[in-house]
Amino acid sequence: MTRGTVTATAPATSANLGSGFDVFGLALTRPVDVVHVERTRETTVEVTGRGSRHVPTDPAANTAGVVADELDAPAAIRIDKGVRPASGLGSSAASAAAAALALDELYDLGRSRESLVRVAAEGERVVSGDAHADNVTPALLGGFTAVTDDELLRVPVDLPVVACLPDTAVSTRDAREVVPDAAAMSDVVETVGSAAALVLGMVRNDPALVGRGFRESVVTPARAALVDGYERARDAALDAGAHGVTVSGAGPAVLAIPPVGGVRSVAEALVDGFRAAGVEGVPYRTRVGRGASLPEPDA
Ligand code: HSE
Repeated sequence: MTRGTVTATAPATSANLGSGFDVFGLALTRPVDVVHVERTRETTVEVTGRGSRHVPTDPAANTAGVVADELDAPAAIRIDKGVRPASGLGSSAASAAAAALALDELYDLGRSRESLVRVAAEGERVVSGDAHADNVTPALLGGFTAVTDDELLRVPVDLPVVACLPDTAVSTRDAREVVPDAAAMSDVVETVGSAAALVLGMVRNDPALVGRGFRESVVTPARAALVDGYERARDAALDAGAHGVTVSGAGPAVLAIPPVGGVRSVAEALVDGFRAAGVEGVPYRTRVGRGASLPEPDA
């Protein structure tokens, strides 16, 4: 049966996780973007919701519009943003992932989620200048993911996660410019050790090991300088017992792994830490979640 309109949702995601710059990604249960698509001859884009005025509606400059073009699936696209743009929570990826899934369904393309990842990553190119897939992969596949040139690796994970989004913005382009071109071998060794701990922690659902795996000394310190209040928020969360704290994606959101029973106290600590630096923050008490989905149409 041909459907006239399709709705899909896709979650916020957190990329890098400290030791996995441009490789690791995590799907969160909230917030989410909701994307509605309807068949048309020419693609149009309309955006409502959180930070919508900062999202381009020119289809060639919007991640969902680029996805429609890549799939040769023109549509009237309506995006209801739950994931604020320039947040470090995969806002553009959420729109791209939801659009890819919705358009695949609308046009009955039968594409695999893995092939939709590559399409959605092209949407990312218009935002950051690079078709990196570390947000769109968890946004489509869910769980913890690792992206290499050849493979999309995924494991399901059951862990609580706390994110805090300060009321500031960091552009991905700016955040990529501060990343050093080279790293000392001692830093590479530290990063590999952390990445190994993090992967094992994800496989075992072990929050202490995952938090330990956030540690690295090349990308995060360079980026932390762009996030007002980061040090205070991080230190407050660690004092509250967080196993690890890092910049989420390109920032300014911060991601923390709480101890068992410590979700609320870590969330409050992050908010208090930012506030002590004069920055208001929105806490998200969330979990590792599933990828984009097609809610059942109303009966
Ligand atoms: N890995 C990317 C970065 C994610 O940190 O620049 C941002 O979209």
